[in-house]
Amino acid sequence: MPAEKKPIIIYGGSFDPPHRGHMELAAAALRQLKPQAVYFVPGFHTPFKDLRPVPFPERRALLRAALAEAGLLGRPEVKISSFEAGLRRVVYTWETVAHFRALHPGAPVFFLMGSDCLEGFKAWRRWRTVLKGARLLVGLRPGHALTALRGVPFTALAGRFPRAASSDLRSALFLGEKPPALHASVLARIAARGLYLARERALLKKIITPRRFRHSLDTAALAVRLAPGLGLPAQKAAAAGLLHDCARDMAPAALKKYARARCPRAPFLKTMIKEAPVLLHAWAGAARAAALFGVRDAGITEAIELHATGAPEMGPLARLIYVCDLAAPGRDFPEAGLVRELALRDFGAALRAANYVKLTYAFSGGGWVHPLSVSLWNSLQEKKKG
Ligand SMILES: [Fe+2]
Ligand SMILES: [Fe+2]
Repeated sequence: MPAEKKPIIIYGGSFDPPHRGHMELAAAALRQLKPQAVYFVPGFHTPFKDLRPVPFPERRALLRAALAEAGLLGRPEVKISSFEAGLRRVVYTWETVAHFRALHPGAPVFFLMGSDCLEGFKAWRRWRTVLKGARLLVGLRPGHALTALRGVPFTALAGRFPRAASSDLRSALFLGEKPPALHASVLARIAARGLYLARERALLKKIITPRRFRHSLDTAALAVRLAPGLGLPAQKAAAAGLLHDCARDMAPAALKKYARARCPRAPFLKTMIKEAPVLLHAWAGAARAAALFGVRDAGITEAIELHATGAPEMGPLARLIYVCDLAAPGRDFPEAGLVRELALRDFGAALRAANYVKLTYAFSGGGWVHPLSVSLWNSLQEKKKG
């Protein structure tokens, strides 16, 4: 067959991060179709979606590392395309297919995907146009049977391919885990470049005690686990959980000075300084997260500010961190485990329970209780009745 008549394969995706599942699918497609080209096409990422999104040049470098370890880099058919990333906007698959068809007139075009993607194919923008331009090439992923979709013909790849969802891998990376679905060289590059909050974790480790660092990781892990149920992005949950206590180990005098200078609008600042200075670490933490970690996200800022006191009108991320801080594994009071269990079943109930536990401890200690905590209690009681 003349080279220009051999098929081309388009492999689109976020590749955020690229993993073994991607490589095995591509290797099988190369074996089965013997194409003239396989184009990996990492998509464009909207910069405001995450605290620190992984930009295209970094994802391309990770992809090259994965391809090298899988023995695919350097094969003349294997190419990484900047087509979608270069357009600097969300690019639909029908556009990508049209682009590569025009590059290879006369060549059969295949669009490669796992069976997990096939299930939702009819929700894709202009999916019929995609099918006019390319034939789907689908690899079987566990838990996602290759079932025919009416009006969606496809070619099945021989073999079974590992289950590896980029979103799960990202969540693990945010917490500093090393998922086996990632190649060693990909993990090494992520660490070296400080991606997926690695930079934030390294800096945090330097400014809080090891015990506090462990608690921050525990809080982040619980927050990441609960985030999908509340419709929150894992990355924001992880960042807020990691950073919520970033000012907790400042020396008392320095904390007061910092809070006076940087948090003049913290509610009841003067009374806190006098009556409950430990609470200052929440507002000081938000200021520090902005100054040291570049946090600009209003939801993360609010979550750090309110994690200790709560507040009646706090947003969903702040509610999440308020509960997770109290209920994190490793907390040494018995209610933590109970609130954690509750949070997995009924988050609203867990929020009320967390507020109850915090207030009970505050009252039993005697002294001043922050009005925001009491207001939260009252607002939750009103909502319960309403
Ligand atoms: Fe705290
Ligand atoms: Fe905490």
